[in-house]
Amino acid sequence: MSYEYLIFGQQNINFAPIQFKGMAEQAKIVLEGKEYEYPVITGTENEKAIDISKLRGETGYVTLDIGFKNTAATSSAITYLDGEQGLLRHRGYSIEDLADKASFTEVVYLILYGELPNEAQYKEFNAQLRDHTLVNEGLDSMFKAFPTGAHPMGQLMSMISALGLFYPKSLDPNREDDAVNRTVIRLLAKMPTICAMISKKGHGHPVVFPRNDLDYVTNYLNMTFGQVSMLDYEPDPVIVSAMNKLLILHADHEQNCSASTVRVVGSSQSNLYSSVASGVAALWGPLHGGANQKVLEMLEMIMEDGGDVQKYLDKAKDKSDNFRLMGFGHRVYKNFDPRARIIKKTCDEVLNKLGVNDPVLEIAKKLETAALTDPYFVERKLYPNVDFYSGIIYRAMGFPTEFFTVLFALGRLPGWIAQWQELRGEKQPISRPRQVYTGETARPFVFMKDRA
Ligand code: CMC
Repeated sequence: MSYEYLIFGQQNINFAPIQFKGMAEQAKIVLEGKEYEYPVITGTENEKAIDISKLRGETGYVTLDIGFKNTAATSSAITYLDGEQGLLRHRGYSIEDLADKASFTEVVYLILYGELPNEAQYKEFNAQLRDHTLVNEGLDSMFKAFPTGAHPMGQLMSMISALGLFYPKSLDPNREDDAVNRTVIRLLAKMPTICAMISKKGHGHPVVFPRNDLDYVTNYLNMTFGQVSMLDYEPDPVIVSAMNKLLILHADHEQNCSASTVRVVGSSQSNLYSSVASGVAALWGPLHGGANQKVLEMLEMIMEDGGDVQKYLDKAKDKSDNFRLMGFGHRVYKNFDPRARIIKKTCDEVLNKLGVNDPVLEIAKKLETAALTDPYFVERKLYPNVDFYSGIIYRAMGFPTEFFTVLFALGRLPGWIAQWQELRGEKQPISRPRQVYTGETARPFVFMKDRA
């Protein structure tokens, strides 16, 4: 099976058919004395999986894996992550190289289309994005309906969902013309405008229109921190560079909670806007992207409580206490999250260059040092994750704490879209897990008058 996407009207990019390195091994399973064999498949980085897709049909059994801790829900060619070694690569390129050498829009292109763009492709891609930065004024009136203090992530989810309503003719994910690609470009182009509108509306300030002479990141910063009357606003290059890096570091992370949500929703052939809006909903939770907000709130709480990091480490270790060390631990990384390493370095650079002396950085460093030598965290392989230091940079840039997860979403958008496109391109079936029922067995209805 092979498939291809039409990209920006001109060019077809072929996506490699799914290939596994070998299917020689078999896994044997014995059920009720009968032996069944299932193929062992190997990915391009030698990850092994037992393909149990025929299990229920052949045996009547299902597998139980709450939280999908051992289940690959799909094959994917977008992102490779080795949690034991702390490796992250997009389409084969290391996150370190991309964060150091690429622009965010180059990485968006790479993630979406599989290859780094050449100069002509990059120019064309940016031109396409610039063509679609404005949003319909009808969206503006939606902001009037939000109560004061509405969380930015709730607003973002609603706005992305509403955006789709303005393009009813291009919602069908099965259309074979350029409509799906136009939807992809529209969403990417309008996301910074919507995120900036949420900031401006939150402050009660007039929105700043997109400036199409600026690159993606600078335009976003201009719409967020510029003012209508100051068209010559120039963001500090340190901030532009850090924002570029932060967006790259969030661009995709294989089958995480929000990407899986986007895939599950997309698998019902729901449109891209609603699939991405559901990804935003999943990201908002504090165990996922919402952790960046919670980390900063935690650091402030520790600081206001006198800075005793040991007290909070003890709370995190106490199973009778709900407190968790936010920004620590990861389902897949059992080593340093490579994104966290880059962010920590960037954090130091940004704060130094901007001359910001943020006392929460000291608390964060103390907490990290203490946790990394504490047997509880060492035994469980709990390391700082991407959210641990990012909030300190966002704060230095001038973003309010409640806005941090929106910045995660802005960066993650290409990943969600690529995961959705891959699913659609491979014509994957609807996601519909099984369950092991543990409720009441069949019983007769009892009329109300006869109930105890
Ligand atoms: N503080 C204290 N204990 C922890 C923490 C933590 N942050 N994270 C995990 N543990 C303990 C957990 O209690 C469990 O201990 P035990 O084996 O004694 O029961 C063990 O470590 C394994 O944890 P788990 O909860 O079973 O692991 P998981 O894979 O289900 O959860 C996690 C992963 C990220 C949800 C979790 O580590 C966590 O809640 N971290 C804090 C929230 C956070 O920072 N989230 C951002 C994740 S990175 C950004 C993203 O991509 O989403």
